[in-house]
Amino acid sequence: METIKILGICGSLRQQSTNLGLLKYARKNAPQGMEVNLADLSEVPFFNSDLTDVPTSVQRFLDSLEQADALLMACPEYNYSLAPALKNALDWASRAPENHLLAGKPAAILGSGGGMGSARAQYHLRQVCVFLDIRLLNKPEVFSNAFNGSFDKEGNLTDERIQQLVVEQLTALQSWTQLLRQ
Ligand SMILES: Cc1cc2nc3c(=O)[nH]c(=O)nc-3n(C[C@H](O)[C@H](O)[C@H](O)COP(=O)(O)O)c2cc1C
Repeated sequence: METIKILGICGSLRQQSTNLGLLKYARKNAPQGMEVNLADLSEVPFFNSDLTDVPTSVQRFLDSLEQADALLMACPEYNYSLAPALKNALDWASRAPENHLLAGKPAAILGSGGGMGSARAQYHLRQVCVFLDIRLLNKPEVFSNAFNGSFDKEGNLTDERIQQLVVEQLTALQSWTQLLRQ
């Protein structure tokens, strides 16, 4: 079986991000036949169509999308919506000819936030993905709380229930990606 390459994209840029913690856990615990790499959005500027020479940081991100079979988006909640770093990354990617980097791409969303576990932001992200024609996995959904002790001080995921959910989501994403390839 060919290895499925997943690109993890984190909407939070801070080093001890709990959303990054979810992706790191996914990277370390991916099922057999799946490999998770993490995109670096730290230097990606705001989208501006005046930037006709694509910045190096953006090109690196676009190249990593090209190589990915599927996406895993970690979605923080900022003011009831998705965080700008994640939306900005999708905006850059959507400008590729025919939206070929995103259209038809299998993807899953997980996230960490306040009391609702970033659910509101995740549902905004789902709406964005409709226009981008990203093929989102429906279930399992992963809503984790950044403030209730599910993560340690470095942002590592320590909650066993969420750990199990992340692995279940990866396994479902693997099947979903294989199904869409047929
Ligand atoms: C600008 C800003 C707005 C926020 N708004 C919300 C919000 O509307 N709902 C919520 O649940 N959490 C909100 N939070 C808390 C974030 O969800 C929380 O900081 C989350 O852990 C960020 O993810 P990170 O740990 O990956 O950086 C907000 C945080 C920031 C910085």
